[in-house]
Amino acid sequence: ARARIQDNASRGLWSSRWVFFLAATGSAVGLGNIWKFPYVTGQNGGGAFVLVYLACILLIGIPLLMTEVMIGRRGRANPDGAVARLAREAGASSRWRLVGWFGGLTGFLILSFYLVVAGWALAYVPATFSGAFTGVSGEASGELFGALLADPLRLVVCATLVLAATMLIVGFGVRGGLERSLRFLMPGLFVLMLVLVVYAAIEGEFAQALQFLFVPDFSALTAQSVLVALGHAFFTLSLGCGAMMVYGSYLPEGTSIAKTSILVALADTAVALLAGLAIFPLVFGNSLEPGAGPGLIFVTLPIAFGQMPLGQVVGGLFFVMLVIAALTSAISLSEPSIAWLTERFRISRTKAVLGSGLVLWLLSLGSVFSFNHWADYQPFGKTFFDTLDYLTTNWLMPLGGLGTVLFTGWVLQKQVVSEAIGIRSNCLFLAWWNLLRYGTPVAIVLVFLNLMGLI
Ligand code: PHE
Ligand code: NA
Repeated sequence: ARARIQDNASRGLWSSRWVFFLAATGSAVGLGNIWKFPYVTGQNGGGAFVLVYLACILLIGIPLLMTEVMIGRRGRANPDGAVARLAREAGASSRWRLVGWFGGLTGFLILSFYLVVAGWALAYVPATFSGAFTGVSGEASGELFGALLADPLRLVVCATLVLAATMLIVGFGVRGGLERSLRFLMPGLFVLMLVLVVYAAIEGEFAQALQFLFVPDFSALTAQSVLVALGHAFFTLSLGCGAMMVYGSYLPEGTSIAKTSILVALADTAVALLAGLAIFPLVFGNSLEPGAGPGLIFVTLPIAFGQMPLGQVVGGLFFVMLVIAALTSAISLSEPSIAWLTERFRISRTKAVLGSGLVLWLLSLGSVFSFNHWADYQPFGKTFFDTLDYLTTNWLMPLGGLGTVLFTGWVLQKQVVSEAIGIRSNCLFLAWWNLLRYGTPVAIVLVFLNLMGLI
């Protein structure tokens, strides 16, 4: 116990449960909600996909989120170290630490392309404020986005700025950097999303959008879409990559993990649905293609900003907020590997930040060139960017999550877990525990088998 208390003192803790909630929400809410959710929903046919995604959040996402936070808080270390410590305490093989290690790697890979998309949002800040989108048509907006993608220099500069900002904040440590940037962001983003939804409801094809999003057409659902829905549930809740574990490791004792996790998932889902409600009325109203892909919001939203009163300011602010939301997620993507480097190899935080920053920057070039120089280089039928996104989100994260639930449900002792998670009602605890032991792993495995055509 002494060692644990010392650890806590030297690693720093969130100053309150409210700050942890903000940080976890900051990690969850990001490009996944506003950029990715609309475009994957569009690509996978709408309603049925949304339903599967919501089911994944409820049955897999929330239980796993609770698990990851618990492992972090109990292990009080980076994901690799936390899992190793818990395995040791349970008398199990320390090989289980691979689960944590693997997560850190996944997060690192995701960050390398996440930065690039955040860079698009950054590029749209000055463009929107300066009125580049005033009165723009759907077609013209598509051309402006195409011009951005065709310009590697602009993409590199923007991604580098985002990377530098992330590393600066991460370099200041948990308390100094994170807490300050989190307080005003979420409410602001929420209000702007509401404004957009109201605008879209008035000006766009709102009824058609509602139908598209909420009336399921199961004939549109393929095994591939189910995998994407599962993967997106992981991506949007920051699961299977150590991010929530490492945030949990800074969580003071005595906070209810269950309540906080549910609130985080609710907030995250609300933002995603608002984004869908803002974007699809505009997609249909401007005869754009719902399945257009990663550019969807960067083509549709500027049309709205170009037409609405005060659109330049509202739009500019929107992209500022999107960049900040992306930053708070990027920070949590980098924290597991930075914490791992400093705690495992005892190198300074500055060195860890600089070293991983350099590797990230090089990797991000691959994503940047996927949209121009290397656009035609598609050895597996996908560009570098698409391959990285597909592999990390749809395979590595669910696999990492599977490892985590198997470790928790089958290796750790029930007594230990029950104490660590701190759910007071026995009935609720058993519901979660059984979901974790049976429901979640079976569901993940079924999705994989289904995709491989084995069932
Ligand atoms: N959840 C973040 C989003 O939706 C992305 C993310 C994934 C952040 C994994 C941390 C870890 O934008
Ligand atoms: Na999210």
